[in-house]
Amino acid sequence: MTVVRFYYGEQIPLEMHKTRIVQKLDLIPVEQRLEAITMAGNNTFLLKNRDVFLDMLTDSGVNAMSDQQLAAMMVADDSYAGSETFFRVEKKIKEIFDKEYFLPAHQGRACENILANAYVKPGSIVPMNYHFTTTKAHIVLRGGTVEEVLCDEGLKVTSDHPFKGNVDLDKLRNLFEQYGAERIPFVRMEAGTNLIGGQPFSLDNLRAVRRLCDEYGVMLVLDASLLADNLYFIKEREAAYRGLSIPEITRMIADCSDIIYFSARKLGCARGGGLCTNSYEAYNAMREFVTLYEGFLTYGGMSVREMEALAVGLEETMDEAMISQGPQFIAYMVDELQEQGIPVVTPAGGLGCHLDAGRFVEHIPQSQYPAGALAVALYIVSGVRGMERGTLSEARDETGQEKLADMELVRLALPRRVFTLSQVKYTIDRILWLYENRKLIEGLTFVEEPTVLRFFFGRLQPVSDWQSKLVAKFKEDFGGGL
Ligand code: F0G
Repeated sequence: MTVVRFYYGEQIPLEMHKTRIVQKLDLIPVEQRLEAITMAGNNTFLLKNRDVFLDMLTDSGVNAMSDQQLAAMMVADDSYAGSETFFRVEKKIKEIFDKEYFLPAHQGRACENILANAYVKPGSIVPMNYHFTTTKAHIVLRGGTVEEVLCDEGLKVTSDHPFKGNVDLDKLRNLFEQYGAERIPFVRMEAGTNLIGGQPFSLDNLRAVRRLCDEYGVMLVLDASLLADNLYFIKEREAAYRGLSIPEITRMIADCSDIIYFSARKLGCARGGGLCTNSYEAYNAMREFVTLYEGFLTYGGMSVREMEALAVGLEETMDEAMISQGPQFIAYMVDELQEQGIPVVTPAGGLGCHLDAGRFVEHIPQSQYPAGALAVALYIVSGVRGMERGTLSEARDETGQEKLADMELVRLALPRRVFTLSQVKYTIDRILWLYENRKLIEGLTFVEEPTVLRFFFGRLQPVSDWQSKLVAKFKEDFGGGL
């Protein structure tokens, strides 16, 4: 991806790929969209894809694959044990991360389950720059506690801090002092910190965390699911490393990490996941859980076709033109919205554009899930499916009290190389309209509330009939149902 200055007109990101396979999309009328979201319990996770126009729910497992990836899938070596495909992935992992041992798993959260089984005990404390939903659930399930040591700037929705995913080193040192290595099995660093808006950490910060871990004898685990975006931001924003290539920066990050795990649904534009390390001890501690929960050590629940695609996808992630596409499209969307006064997370991060529902619908109390309500309203007026990343995505505490989220965000993910700029412009237009009519949006309440990861399949209803008023206004302004 390159940003090209046009001789006439605006500066826009220009795709360094072309489309060779397409999928037809439908945009159903607004009344049908209201019906669909009602059937889905006002939860965008429960919508049927056929009712969705632009699916910006996630970048997970929906990134566009390259011709080279598809070609590689055709030569996969299908075997329960010892497949050639496994050795090809293992070799690529060694080449890119310089890690000797690779354990495949069916996706990112499976790696978290393996890590938690191997290292988390009741009473364990796991410091991290910021939690991710599934990560935290696995640690809590094993009796551990997550402690966030994010820099204060990380939780400011609008900021010009280039690395909001950085760790506050004093907070981390305090935890080490308080609990010591006996209670802290590892520190987790998340690349492209998801829940605060896809925000990166700097290489300097990671190296400082590494030094602190060494001082106290604690392992450092890297969640590399969103590493591609983080690599791009280090190259773009961290002056000291600008002269290095993407493979060189990757190697420096890997050298700081005792264990690296990732969701290959994100990293490598395939499906699956895995863990790698140079420590035989760590490999040994984790591998039995691969065979117990995932599959044999040379496939770990992944299809060999996806493993071939992963090997190629990892290689392609080392290409700056490839990894810049997502962040540059996101920056375009964020800049356009910001110029029109729409509250968005800044600076633009990776993964997607994040609307600040806390300000967008500031009249909705957090207990009525403003980000959930905004995601639903946006679907109704556009057919665009985003994801709530606020209080709904949190879990209640032991006493059943709501844990109000630090941020109320609606994430509009831009899976890599999937959407065109006109589709992004359409989304911006409908967001602008919705902002003008934001007072029509009201809250949601639970009808069915699961106890674990409730945001995935909980069902809700609107607190009033605000949705039909929104539809009526939409039809009035657009002169019809689309
Ligand atoms: N770590 C991070 C940083 C993630 O973003 C995800 C998934 C996982 C771990 C778990 O990986 O889905 O393969 O099991 N994030 C997806 C998302 C679900 O939509 O942001 P998984």
